[in-house]
Amino acid sequence: MQTAIVYYSLEGNTEYAARAIAAELGADTLRINPKKSYPSGGFRKFLWGGKSAVMAEAPELEPYEFDSAKYDRIVFGFPVWAGTVTPPIRTFVQENDLREKRVAAFACQSGNGAQKAFAALKKCLGRDALETELVLIDPKDKPSAENKERLRAFCEQLNAVEAS
Ligand SMILES: Cc1cc2nc3c(=O)[nH]c(=O)nc-3n(C[C@H](O)[C@H](O)[C@H](O)COP(=O)(O)O)c2cc1C
Repeated sequence: MQTAIVYYSLEGNTEYAARAIAAELGADTLRINPKKSYPSGGFRKFLWGGKSAVMAEAPELEPYEFDSAKYDRIVFGFPVWAGTVTPPIRTFVQENDLREKRVAAFACQSGNGAQKAFAALKKCLGRDALETELVLIDPKDKPSAENKERLRAFCEQLNAVEAS
């Protein structure tokens, strides 16, 4: 089972988790970035990022290399923005045919909204369910035993499919 972790991260929490998951699964990672980056820090990030998320934008991405044929499974990782999936993930889903792939996802948030964000991702993918879902609370900024345990269980579930 070849897995690619495709993620967007504004401030490093999702990236932190993506690296930990990649190490556990032996997966490749692909960080996607919008051509026009969102502001980080201060109130502007909430304003611009929040608006973009609410409008369900699909911003143009910086060029990336992704050979879909190499992978059986995609694990999406994103920060929850305004209770929904982060816009660059929408662009990636629109640009790639993932119909034959297994798809799992993890979301980083500081409060709540991940379930709505997973629903938005599923809608975007045109499927009713994901293989498995993981919610982490700011894993880089607020390391916790709970985050660690959830992450371990998520990887164990994905690895179990691999072994079967
Ligand atoms: C524009 C914006 C909107 C956000 N909206 C939410 C939200 O609706 N719910 C929530 O729990 N956290 C929200 N957050 C917090 C992030 O999801 C959270 O801090 C996440 O761990 C950041 O991941 P990153 O460091 O990879 O960017 C928001 C952050 C930004 C910048």
